[in-house]
Amino acid sequence: MSQPLESLLDNAIQAIEQSDDLMSLEAVRVAFLGKKGEVTARLKGLGQISAAERPVVGQEINRIKLRIQKELEQRKSFISERLIADKLISDTVDVTLPGRHSQSGGLHPVTLTMNRIQKMFSKLGFDIVEGPEVEDEFHNFEALNIPVHHPARAMHDTFYFDDDRLLRTHTSPVQIRVLENQQPPVRIIAPGRVYRCDSDLTHTPMFHQVEGLMIDEQVSFSGLKGTLEHFLKLFFERDDLKTRFRPSYFPFTEPSMEADISCVMCSGSGCRVCGYTGWIEILGCGMVHPEVFRHTGVDSDIYTGYAFGLGVERMAMLRYGVNDLRLFFENDLRFLRQFS
Ligand code: DAH
Repeated sequence: MSQPLESLLDNAIQAIEQSDDLMSLEAVRVAFLGKKGEVTARLKGLGQISAAERPVVGQEINRIKLRIQKELEQRKSFISERLIADKLISDTVDVTLPGRHSQSGGLHPVTLTMNRIQKMFSKLGFDIVEGPEVEDEFHNFEALNIPVHHPARAMHDTFYFDDDRLLRTHTSPVQIRVLENQQPPVRIIAPGRVYRCDSDLTHTPMFHQVEGLMIDEQVSFSGLKGTLEHFLKLFFERDDLKTRFRPSYFPFTEPSMEADISCVMCSGSGCRVCGYTGWIEILGCGMVHPEVFRHTGVDSDIYTGYAFGLGVERMAMLRYGVNDLRLFFENDLRFLRQFS
């Protein structure tokens, strides 16, 4: 009997040593010491042994049982300690590693340009107002002296929702909305998105404009020139910037002008950007047309006014030296990062 008992002990010790984690160790304990375990079976079998042998065999089984328990304990603490050590290693923070960079964002160059324009006109006493991007025929065309069959309508490449509603093609309708709600004096600029069904190298379906409107008694064309010249010099940060006004046509102003500035790339000596003319077209402007006053109920015997409209992308291109309009709309981070 003692020989098989010894090999039982050997088997148990071997199984314990081979257990690499707490679960398999527990399985070994159950196999030997559990209710149906091998050692337990031996203890139960004592009844069949003669009374003379029983004490010796019983003592022997108990010795083996205690030995197995001790081995289990030792193995268990060994495995537990190793678990803790492993965890310490895997959880270690290397405080010498460089930190993770969070990327800081920046404003889009068109937004920067709009903010800059707004700040400058605010300083000149202009209020900043907004109008709806979904407009109606009356505000976008009719009240601006562009009646149904006016050729200027065809030039606007309008996105229509239905017979009356459309995406505004310019910020000029804000002139009408302001004059409908406010008696002069009026001194506002209206920045915002405008839409035209047009897309090529130099046109995008959505772009940005800033509209300006000044109405009061004795508002004059020289006031318009002075204000715009002052603004353009500030905007491009050039005291020697030259401005010239050419006669033009817009239905809602009379007389109408287009303003040019001396080329910001070559200072007027002629380059590719200005088409070797030394001048760059920058905005449209003029004295508010009597029809606009009539549509909005402003007394044109008392009041006069000027208006202007400029393209923000164009201003941004000239200020930052960007030669391709599409760069503003591609969201290429390599381009955008240069402005943050
Ligand atoms: N609304 C014109 C356009 O989109 C720009 C413009 C020209 C606005 C002359 C004005 C102006 O207020 O006086 O082409």
